[in-house]
Amino acid sequence: MNYITDKLIKIKDKGLYRELRYIDTAQSPRVKIEGKDFILLGSNNYLGLCDDFRLKKAAIDAINKYGVGSGGSRLTTGSYDLHKQLEEKIASFKGTEASLVFNTGYMANVGIISALCDASWVIFSDKLNHASIIDGYRLSGAKLIRYKHCDMNDLLNKINKYKGSNNLIVTDGVFSMDGDIAPLPDIVKIAKKFNMMTMVDDAHATGILGKNGSGTASYFGLDNEIDIIMGTLSKAVASEGGYVAGKKDLINYLINSARSFIYSTALCPSTIAVSIKALEIIEKDEERRVKLLKTSNWFQNQLKVAGFNVMETQTPIIPILIGEVDKAVEFSKILLSQGVYVPAIRPPSVPRGTSRLRISLMATHSKEDLEEALVKIKEIGKELKIIGGLL
Ligand SMILES: Cc1ncc(COP(=O)(O)O)c(C=O)c1O
Repeated sequence: MNYITDKLIKIKDKGLYRELRYIDTAQSPRVKIEGKDFILLGSNNYLGLCDDFRLKKAAIDAINKYGVGSGGSRLTTGSYDLHKQLEEKIASFKGTEASLVFNTGYMANVGIISALCDASWVIFSDKLNHASIIDGYRLSGAKLIRYKHCDMNDLLNKINKYKGSNNLIVTDGVFSMDGDIAPLPDIVKIAKKFNMMTMVDDAHATGILGKNGSGTASYFGLDNEIDIIMGTLSKAVASEGGYVAGKKDLINYLINSARSFIYSTALCPSTIAVSIKALEIIEKDEERRVKLLKTSNWFQNQLKVAGFNVMETQTPIIPILIGEVDKAVEFSKILLSQGVYVPAIRPPSVPRGTSRLRISLMATHSKEDLEEALVKIKEIGKELKIIGGLL
């Protein structure tokens, strides 16, 4: 036990100790935590659908018909007609031949990469890619080459140096802690030139970017140009689960070899029903997406005008760069004490020296919510000398 206690002490000494907070209400712009009211500015419920009556009804109807648990893994007794419907829906949403649902986005990345790649592969991965991509590589036996964030010159240099017989370029579509968008047209060009496979993690782009919110490839007019598109149903889709979309052969191969798909009990029917309904809404509700992107643009401009170092972002993820761990944590704590919940993000989630407040907006935030939060963010920013005092 000393071993664990010592490890915990070391985490605390570095200011990296994390604790859970328990929300008593639905995930919405204003929440209650242990009875106290907060404006929530850190949710991935980007389109505000977590509390939507149509999704709640879809879940209730599915529970009434199918009960609760799924009762088995997908290859045994856990596949329902709803899973099939959802997989067809995702494929048509993404414009691919087929798709497959995993229990989480994390499990999708780990399952896809470890099933596809072995020691004969070289994986070229953006330095800021999500941890689940790295964990997939760890299970694969492949060689990992990380290129500088969105830096195509560095990618080319590294390809020339390390290219193997089988090669994959993998990138987040929208970077989860930064909010910027991968230079997909350049990545596709490079992959074609060197005959490499491409994989995009659309966790934060699904429902947000591209035609009908279908993701990063569509945003750049690159439909059908990406070999493997994965994403999650847990953010804008307001449900749970991960997915992969691509050619039929890819999907059939993953059904037969992705261990995180094979050896885990399937998601329950009500969760699947929620995802189907949410995708139907997302495809039709352009207004919700446009409002979110407009509001995000306005909010980040307000922060910039106030003097904050806002990282370059075109999405609802708005990071305020602070730098030191302690200062980011202090900022977040004071905000919390004043009723605004914005998580401080620190290593290992982001590189050392780049601790930040990661603000993320929902389409359902009102102007009043955001103006009230802005006043507090600015006041505390001045108090902590993160911005000047004259504004
Ligand atoms: C870029 C990225 N990929 C994958 C995941 C994992 O998705 P999930 O939360 O569904 O496991 C996340 C979210 O945490 C993410 O941000």
